[in-house]
Amino acid sequence: MKIIIINGPNLNLLGKREKDIYGSKNFDDFFIEMQFKFRDVELSYFQSNIEGELIDKLQEVGYSYDGIVLNAAAYTHTSVGIGDAVKAITSPVVEVHISNTFSREDFRHKSYIAPNAKGIIAGFGLQSYELAIKSFLKGS
Ligand code: DQA
Repeated sequence: MKIIIINGPNLNLLGKREKDIYGSKNFDDFFIEMQFKFRDVELSYFQSNIEGELIDKLQEVGYSYDGIVLNAAAYTHTSVGIGDAVKAITSPVVEVHISNTFSREDFRHKSYIAPNAKGIIAGFGLQSYELAIKSFLKGS
Protein backbone atom coordinates (compact mmCIF):
# COMPACT_ATOMS: atom_id res chain seq x y z
CA MET A 1 0.00 0.00 0.00
CA LYS A 2 1.37 3.37 -1.06
CA ILE A 3 0.49 6.48 0.91
CA ILE A 4 2.06 9.92 0.58
CA ILE A 5 1.94 12.88 2.93
CA ILE A 6 2.00 16.18 1.04
CA ASN A 7 2.65 19.33 3.04
CA GLY A 8 2.23 22.86 1.77
CA PRO A 9 3.83 26.21 2.58
CA ASN A 10 5.61 26.93 5.84
CA LEU A 11 5.16 23.40 7.14
CA ASN A 12 8.90 22.94 6.64
CA LEU A 13 9.15 25.23 9.68
CA LEU A 14 7.32 22.90 12.05
CA GLY A 15 9.08 22.89 15.39
CA LYS A 16 10.18 26.49 14.95
CA ARG A 17 6.98 28.16 13.78
CA GLU A 18 4.23 29.40 16.15
CA LYS A 19 4.90 26.55 18.56
CA ASP A 20 1.81 27.39 20.62
CA ILE A 21 -0.33 26.45 17.59
CA TYR A 22 1.77 23.89 15.70
CA GLY A 23 3.86 22.31 18.47
CA SER A 24 7.58 21.91 18.88
CA LYS A 25 8.20 18.71 16.95
CA ASN A 26 10.04 18.84 13.65
CA PHE A 27 8.19 17.05 10.81
CA ASP A 28 11.17 14.96 9.70
CA ASP A 29 11.38 13.37 13.17
CA PHE A 30 7.63 12.81 13.20
CA PHE A 31 7.76 11.25 9.72
CA ILE A 32 10.41 8.73 10.86
CA GLU A 33 8.08 7.77 13.73
CA MET A 34 5.23 7.28 11.26
CA GLN A 35 7.38 5.09 8.99
CA PHE A 36 8.25 2.96 12.02
CA LYS A 37 4.64 2.78 13.19
CA PHE A 38 3.25 1.91 9.75
CA ARG A 39 6.00 -0.48 8.64
CA ASP A 40 3.70 -2.31 6.23
CA VAL A 41 2.87 0.89 4.38
CA GLU A 42 5.09 2.37 1.70
CA LEU A 43 4.96 5.85 3.20
CA SER A 44 6.53 8.84 1.47
CA TYR A 45 6.65 12.56 2.15
CA PHE A 46 6.77 15.68 0.01
CA GLN A 47 6.79 19.33 1.08
CA SER A 48 6.83 22.47 -1.01
CA ASN A 49 6.22 26.15 -0.49
CA ILE A 50 5.29 26.47 -4.17
CA GLU A 51 1.71 25.99 -5.33
CA GLY A 52 2.60 24.59 -8.77
CA GLU A 53 4.96 22.01 -7.26
CA LEU A 54 2.14 20.77 -5.02
CA ILE A 55 -0.11 20.45 -8.08
CA ASP A 56 2.64 18.62 -10.01
CA LYS A 57 3.06 16.16 -7.14
CA LEU A 58 -0.70 15.55 -6.87
CA GLN A 59 -0.81 14.81 -10.61
CA GLU A 60 2.24 12.54 -10.38
CA VAL A 61 0.95 10.33 -7.54
CA GLY A 62 -2.78 10.85 -7.95
CA TYR A 63 -3.53 7.98 -10.33
CA SER A 64 -1.53 5.24 -8.65
CA TYR A 65 -1.26 5.82 -4.88
CA ASP A 66 -3.70 4.27 -2.43
CA GLY A 67 -3.99 7.40 -0.35
CA ILE A 68 -2.87 11.02 -0.15
CA VAL A 69 -2.70 12.86 3.16
CA LEU A 70 -2.78 16.52 2.16
CA ASN A 71 -2.07 19.50 4.37
CA ALA A 72 -2.08 22.28 1.80
CA ALA A 73 -1.61 24.76 4.68
CA ALA A 74 -2.49 28.34 3.64
CA TYR A 75 -3.21 27.20 0.05
CA THR A 76 -6.17 25.25 1.43
CA HIS A 77 -7.99 28.54 1.79
CA THR A 78 -6.93 30.17 -1.49
CA SER A 79 -5.99 27.68 -4.19
CA VAL A 80 -8.54 26.87 -6.88
CA GLY A 81 -5.65 25.12 -8.69
CA ILE A 82 -4.96 22.65 -5.87
CA GLY A 83 -8.71 22.13 -5.44
CA ASP A 84 -9.03 21.32 -9.16
CA ALA A 85 -6.07 18.91 -8.97
CA VAL A 86 -7.70 17.05 -6.07
CA LYS A 87 -10.88 16.83 -8.16
CA ALA A 88 -8.96 15.58 -11.22
CA ILE A 89 -7.06 12.72 -9.61
CA THR A 90 -8.44 9.33 -8.67
CA SER A 91 -6.46 8.53 -5.49
CA PRO A 92 -8.43 9.35 -2.33
CA VAL A 93 -7.30 12.49 -0.52
CA VAL A 94 -7.73 13.16 3.19
CA GLU A 95 -7.39 16.83 4.08
CA VAL A 96 -5.42 17.34 7.25
CA HIS A 97 -4.72 20.29 9.53
CA ILE A 98 -2.65 20.39 12.69
CA SER A 99 -4.79 23.12 14.20
CA ASN A 100 -8.57 23.28 14.32
CA THR A 101 -8.98 25.72 11.45
CA PHE A 102 -12.64 26.26 12.39
CA SER A 103 -11.73 27.70 15.77
CA ARG A 104 -9.40 30.24 14.13
CA GLU A 105 -9.86 33.24 11.83
CA ASP A 106 -12.79 33.23 9.37
CA PHE A 107 -10.52 33.01 6.31
CA ARG A 108 -9.35 29.61 7.56
CA HIS A 109 -12.91 28.25 7.49
CA LYS A 110 -12.91 28.09 3.69
CA SER A 111 -11.34 25.04 2.01
CA TYR A 112 -10.90 24.48 -1.72
CA ILE A 113 -9.82 20.90 -0.96
CA ALA A 114 -12.74 19.74 1.19
CA PRO A 115 -15.44 19.41 -1.52
CA ASN A 116 -13.38 16.71 -3.24
CA ALA A 117 -11.67 15.15 -0.23
CA LYS A 118 -12.62 11.77 1.17
CA GLY A 119 -12.64 13.38 4.61
CA ILE A 120 -11.12 16.06 6.80
CA ILE A 121 -9.14 15.74 10.03
CA ALA A 122 -8.22 18.93 11.87
CA GLY A 123 -7.20 19.98 15.33
CA PHE A 124 -5.36 16.95 16.68
CA GLY A 125 -1.85 18.30 16.30
CA LEU A 126 0.51 16.00 14.40
CA GLN A 127 -1.79 13.14 15.38
CA SER A 128 -4.11 14.42 12.60
CA TYR A 129 -1.67 12.85 10.10
CA GLU A 130 -1.65 9.54 11.96
CA LEU A 131 -5.45 9.43 12.00
CA ALA A 132 -5.49 10.15 8.26
CA ILE A 133 -3.03 7.31 7.51
CA LYS A 134 -5.15 4.95 9.64
CA SER A 135 -8.25 5.94 7.69
CA PHE A 136 -6.70 4.40 4.57
CA LEU A 137 -5.86 1.08 6.19
CA LYS A 138 -8.12 -1.83 5.50
CA GLY A 139 -10.22 -2.91 8.46
CA SER A 140 -9.85 0.43 10.26
C1 DQA B 1 -2.68 24.58 8.80
C2 DQA B 1 -3.79 25.63 8.99
C3 DQA B 1 -3.69 26.69 7.92
O1 DQA B 1 -4.73 27.64 8.11
C4 DQA B 1 -2.37 27.41 8.00
O2 DQA B 1 -2.26 28.36 6.98
C5 DQA B 1 -1.21 26.48 8.03
C6 DQA B 1 -1.32 25.21 8.74
C7 DQA B 1 -2.68 23.53 9.92
O3 DQA B 1 -2.10 22.47 9.72
O4 DQA B 1 -3.23 23.79 10.99
O5 DQA B 1 -0.14 26.81 7.51
O6 DQA B 1 -2.94 23.89 7.57
